[in-house]
Amino acid sequence: MPRHYRVIQWATGSVGRESLKAIVMHPQLELAGVWVHSEEKRGRDAGELCGLPPTGVHATTSLEEVLACDADCVAYMPRLTDLDEVCALLRSGKNVICTPFLFYGEALPDAERRKVASACLEGGTSVHGTGIHPGFVGMVLPLAMSGLSRTIDHLRIEERADWTFYDSPRITFDNMRFGHPPEEAALEANAFARFNAEIFEQQIHMLSDALGAGIDEVTVEQDLCVAPETKQVRAGVLEAGTVSGQRYQWRGLCLGEPRIEIDALWTLGGFYPEHWPKPRDGWTVSIEGDPSLRTHFLSLASFARRDATIDEHVHASDIATAMQAVNSIPALCEAETGIRGSFELGPVRAGIGFRR
Ligand SMILES: NC(=O)c1ccc[n+]([C@@H]2O[C@H](COP(=O)([O-])OP(=O)(O)OC[C@H]3O[C@@H](n4cnc5c(N)ncnc54)[C@H](OP(=O)(O)O)[C@@H]3O)[C@@H](O)[C@H]2O)c1
Repeated sequence: MPRHYRVIQWATGSVGRESLKAIVMHPQLELAGVWVHSEEKRGRDAGELCGLPPTGVHATTSLEEVLACDADCVAYMPRLTDLDEVCALLRSGKNVICTPFLFYGEALPDAERRKVASACLEGGTSVHGTGIHPGFVGMVLPLAMSGLSRTIDHLRIEERADWTFYDSPRITFDNMRFGHPPEEAALEANAFARFNAEIFEQQIHMLSDALGAGIDEVTVEQDLCVAPETKQVRAGVLEAGTVSGQRYQWRGLCLGEPRIEIDALWTLGGFYPEHWPKPRDGWTVSIEGDPSLRTHFLSLASFARRDATIDEHVHASDIATAMQAVNSIPALCEAETGIRGSFELGPVRAGIGFRR
């Protein structure tokens, strides 16, 4: 008989709602609680928050209530993170699966790593950050592909994403500062962009350690472009002259030579800069080596259904992000105490699986 795990959902945004729904449906998981940020959702039934029948579990805005709740794991998916909060959850004996951060412990600043590790030790718990990217595309997929390699010379991950239909205005405009003057979206000016950059760097360090790339430095270069005209997008109005394109190139160097690279090409409003490369939408992972390998990865609402809307297609990535996390919960709850990386949890597979 497989073990069952009691899980608390933390935040019910685009990703959190899908995670909540999956926790309710997953045969090995039982919903133990729901934390919400907004007052308006406080007290509402979890089922109502994710489009399912009533569950009898009601949302709270109180950290103390979550800490006091008997649960094996928290699925932590807020827009803004708080490391002290995560450490309190870990100390209270709850494992934490999360989508915003903590992707690779070895790459965290020393003080943060020690703080999280000691919370894990105190609570006898573990924590793992994952999602579609960062997570699956930048860590799980390259590692799986590398199983076909004799030797590797170079590894490159390209992400091409159009944010026009992304339904998280806060992340698009407030966090990433699309729709702001370029000087406000610059890495030096935007703490969230720096936080985000560190997460992608964590993936490079993780791959380097796992594959022996010997990366001794990771650099990041940012290229910002502005909208030539005003445009209505899913998250609001993108004004002419404000940021509509952000390119980030992370390079993992070994003695000055790039060995692992991530190139993220993000646009809003349909304006594509002439001077950028033009990969296919989605993610492309290329390994140059013996042999050379390439895969192009997409997550869509359907490959068969013609009437799937663009919003549904965009939302598919939120579902995939939530599911990579939810499907990791049983392995995480059984994992050794501490900050766990993707390759330490074994292959993650669908817990609900085929529709019945
Ligand atoms: N790894 C990946 O591949 C990946 C992919 C997509 C997103 N993410 C990350 O996953 C997280 C969730 O993404 P999302 O698209 O669901 O975001 P979202 O829809 O913008 O919001 C998530 C939720 O966070 C809560 N929230 C709002 N303001 C907050 C604040 N000031 N402090 C703390 N929480 C607040 C709200 O919860 P309630 O509605 O419950 O009140 C909100 O719905 C984000 O951190 C995002 O960066 C990761």
